[in-house]
Amino acid sequence: MMPKIEINPETCDKEGLCTRVCAEDIFKQEEKATVPVVVHPERCFYCGQCVAVCPGEAITHHGFEMDNFPPHTAEMDIEPDALLGFLRMRRSVRNYNQKRPVSRETVEKLIEAARYAPTGSNAQSLQHLIIESRQTMDTLARLCVDLFKEQLDVCQDEKALAKLDPRVARRIRAEQHFYESVISDYQAGKDPFFYQAPVLIVTHADLTITSCPVEDATLASYQMMLMAQSLGLGTCYIGNFYEYANQSQTIREMLAIPPDHDILMSFTLGYPAVRFRRLVDRNEPEVQWIT
Ligand SMILES: Cc1cc2nc3c(=O)[nH]c(=O)nc-3n(C[C@H](O)[C@H](O)[C@H](O)COP(=O)(O)O)c2cc1C
Repeated sequence: MMPKIEINPETCDKEGLCTRVCAEDIFKQEEKATVPVVVHPERCFYCGQCVAVCPGEAITHHGFEMDNFPPHTAEMDIEPDALLGFLRMRRSVRNYNQKRPVSRETVEKLIEAARYAPTGSNAQSLQHLIIESRQTMDTLARLCVDLFKEQLDVCQDEKALAKLDPRVARRIRAEQHFYESVISDYQAGKDPFFYQAPVLIVTHADLTITSCPVEDATLASYQMMLMAQSLGLGTCYIGNFYEYANQSQTIREMLAIPPDHDILMSFTLGYPAVRFRRLVDRNEPEVQWIT
């Protein structure tokens, strides 16, 4: 859809910042210190940068809710050390307080954080499922165990592995222990998929309109996880679900995933039952500078 974009000549400062930030050359400034002209509105992919950069609030972009461009204030800035500390504080939480439910208002704050994550080509096509039902999570875990049993068969099929690239075959063989241990934990009555979390968030998207679906979902979910942390909640990425879930038609139907969509990301959410008192160490980064 081609948006109507207007520039108010009374308030435009004629510096042409909109022409500089627009990645699609929608604006053209014929000469220095003149009001830019909107020449290619059809190219707009709704990034909002033209409106956000304009010092005179001279741009009205009719494709947006213009009230949702609040000014950047000093309170929004974060000290670098505080940010690093906050990032280092995040832990994968696998023990949840069963007695403390997560309110819908709280989950909505996470969704709001996801909303402002970057997406490839600004596609903004992610959809989120908020699963609060224990019964649904238990059924999903049972279906995941079936998928893990299938994976285990693949790990043990020496004839099939012999036909693969030896590096791929080695990796698949190495996963055997992992599948066995998750299956055995499940059979022992544990919940090795969702850790009895009060909430499971699953993100999916239409692959026909999304250029970088996995990256989009990863970034959006990470923003949700950081928002959760700021609200005192814990989260854990659940690759053991989203990496396998699309292989199961039963899971797809159960969650009403449309045919063109794929499940891309999932994480558990709840108030932690344990408190981490220290930050953790990590490997030294391997970095090469190319000059
Ligand atoms: C893409 C991805 C998938 C993950 N999947 C799982 C999972 O299925 N189950 C689980 O318990 N943890 C999972 N994790 C959590 C990692 O094990 C965890 O991030 C890592 O051990 C570092 O610990 P930390 O998150 O507490 O810093 C996943 C993490 C990532 C980034």
